[in-house]
Amino acid sequence: MIRTRLIATAADAPEQIITNDDLAKVVDTSDEWISQRTGIKERRISSGENTSDLVVNVAKQLLEKASVTPESIDLIIVASVTPDYNTPSLACMIQKEIGAVHAVAFDISAACSGFMFALSIADKYIKTGSYENAIVIGGETLSKIVNWKDRATCVLFGDGAGGAYVEKSQESGITCEDIGSAGSQYDILTAGYTACTNVFNDQPEGMDEHWYVSMNGREVFKFATKNVIKSMQKVMELEGITQEEVKYFIPHQANARIVEVISKKLKIPYEKFYLNMERYGNTSSASIPIALNELNEKGLLERGDKIILSGFGGGMTWGTMLITW
Ligand code: ACO
Repeated sequence: MIRTRLIATAADAPEQIITNDDLAKVVDTSDEWISQRTGIKERRISSGENTSDLVVNVAKQLLEKASVTPESIDLIIVASVTPDYNTPSLACMIQKEIGAVHAVAFDISAACSGFMFALSIADKYIKTGSYENAIVIGGETLSKIVNWKDRATCVLFGDGAGGAYVEKSQESGITCEDIGSAGSQYDILTAGYTACTNVFNDQPEGMDEHWYVSMNGREVFKFATKNVIKSMQKVMELEGITQEEVKYFIPHQANARIVEVISKKLKIPYEKFYLNMERYGNTSSASIPIALNELNEKGLLERGDKIILSGFGGGMTWGTMLITW
């Protein structure tokens, strides 16, 4: 059976570290409030790097780690809600920077589930025989769409990028998935609204307040716990395995309390969740691949290990994948 195997992983983040204490100098907050409610201690914030700088760096690392040439790349998919431009796509910018002259390149938007959706698309192209390999990346500079005067949201997010080089394989790889969308709830988490202003209408010009990340935190909490639990259960059922057979769960790194609920409900030991939100905050589409890369770089993954990646995000969306390493 054809599978899509993750051959190499990579990540990048701005050098600048902003701690909770640094944030307390900008908004009325405290390390205690942020740590207790979210588990986040610090995050990386851009000193000018844009999303393209981060994703290009990830793509270059992937080529090197996988020992493949740019000309051999078939497909580049980037998930982001904070691209440099609406057009060109980040994927096309990567294509130019790395010289992947034969690749088909495009971006997708599924917020914090973006990496899962992008990986799912790459998997389908590979399984249907259209392409043999792909670079799949999630990358964000959320600091440019966060309202730095809103303490309820600005403390949650960080900048970064992560990704994987994937290839057709006859052995291990992506085994099963569950992805979904609940557009009826789109308004509980929004960002980046641009009004339709032009010289022929009387819409006010300038940046709309809905440009910034706006969130109903409690509704997002409910959505995440309900759907991630269902989705992880479904994937394990599809594969006919129990949580005991899964070595690590890599959840979207939004909030430690969400993970605590999932752990309790599914009776999965908390230590089996790989978490690094303490150091990165919520990097949206980059959060899962950054965590996956850390796990991989620490040498904690062996061939044949089963891992589950599970994200939820704006849209609203969710996506879970079982991978045999
Ligand atoms: N520092 C200090 N106080 C704060 C802060 C802050 N940074 N932010 C809010 N508060 C205050 C509020 O003003 C409020 O004060 P009040 O009671 O005097 O009115 C109090 O804290 C409680 O505010 P809530 O918004 O009700 O806080 P809540 O307990 O719901 O926690 C949180 C907020 C952590 C965001 C929570 O709703 C949550 O975990 N939501 C899950 C969603 C999430 O993590 N989203 C991340 C991004 S979305 C995604 O990744 C898909």
